[in-house]
Amino acid sequence: MLQQETIAEIVEKAIRTLALPDEPRQLYEPVGYMFSIGGKHLRPRLCLTTYGLFHDAVPQEVVWSALALETFHTFTLIHDDVMDRSATRRGNPTVHCKWDVNTAILSGDLMSILAYRYLAMGPADKLPALLKLFTDTAVGVCEGQQRDMDFERKPFITMEDYMKMIGQKTGVLLAAATCMGGILAGAPEAQCKALYDYGYRTGLAFQITDDYLDCFGDAKTFGKPIGGDIAENKKSWLLVEALRRAVSESDKKRIAELLALGDDRRAEKIAAMTQLYIDLGVRDAADAAILECHRSAVDALKQAGFTEQQVDCLREMAEKLLHREK
Ligand code: IPE
Ligand code: IPE
Ligand code: MG
Ligand code: MG
Ligand code: MG
Repeated sequence: MLQQETIAEIVEKAIRTLALPDEPRQLYEPVGYMFSIGGKHLRPRLCLTTYGLFHDAVPQEVVWSALALETFHTFTLIHDDVMDRSATRRGNPTVHCKWDVNTAILSGDLMSILAYRYLAMGPADKLPALLKLFTDTAVGVCEGQQRDMDFERKPFITMEDYMKMIGQKTGVLLAAATCMGGILAGAPEAQCKALYDYGYRTGLAFQITDDYLDCFGDAKTFGKPIGGDIAENKKSWLLVEALRRAVSESDKKRIAELLALGDDRRAEKIAAMTQLYIDLGVRDAADAAILECHRSAVDALKQAGFTEQQVDCLREMAEKLLHREK
């Protein structure tokens, strides 16, 4: 079994030593920039963690597969920041703010293509399975991102709508990461399937936590300004739950009023909505929902024939994410 420190070092080194052309500068600089400003490297780490359940060393081919995940993820962030009108990413200016929107479009496109180049550098015998999973995942992320944007304009969505949306925009990529580790390791199909479900449910918890931290986190630690989701009328877990809990006419009216506030009253809108979340018990409910997703993630590993040590490793991983502040 591989240690988390070893895995983190492998991923960090792979990203640090990635060779990119210098020219055209406007195309490649943002790619290097996004890799240089950090990020948690969760997806490649998850992939190598599940791979490491079965092997004690990571061949370079497998590192390329893990890198494909981080590259694809980073591409989605560049475009997501344009779509969400976000100015800060990983504590730094977003690509479209530092350069411009066209640069963000093309450098993002390039990264999505580079992701496939790195995927193709993985073990030849695993490529058909990896390619299918990766492509299905990429389509899922696009569908989830479209739903996320559609929901901005909808007055009401159900928790079911929300869970489906985050399952696609976030869940499937974490699921692909954990499943890819299994496929690369040559794990039996039932275990790959269980790893997929574990990753998917971990992804749900991860996105609800992201929504939570967007409101209740610390901007410096989180690397993103607090209240962006509120300002943009995002159907975050918090807002969906608040809409569900607001049964009295006065609460409903209050939410509608706050949603109607424009950017000129941004600070006031964020402060009032945050208070409303607390008053309606939404903050505590989010904690419980995150915990429940994590429990169900570990449950997915049952009856797939994993050893106790393997399950413990994945449980620890989930627990670490449960307490994340960034
Ligand atoms: C941000 O992902 C986008 C979401 C799916 C919530 P991460 O929180 O993994 O971002 P980085 O890569 O660590 O910056
Ligand atoms: C992002 O969701 C999901 C993807 C990038 C696919 P968010 O829009 O909540 O992510 P952040 O908060 O900007 O990182
Ligand atoms: Mg978004
Ligand atoms: Mg965003
Ligand atoms: Mg977010």
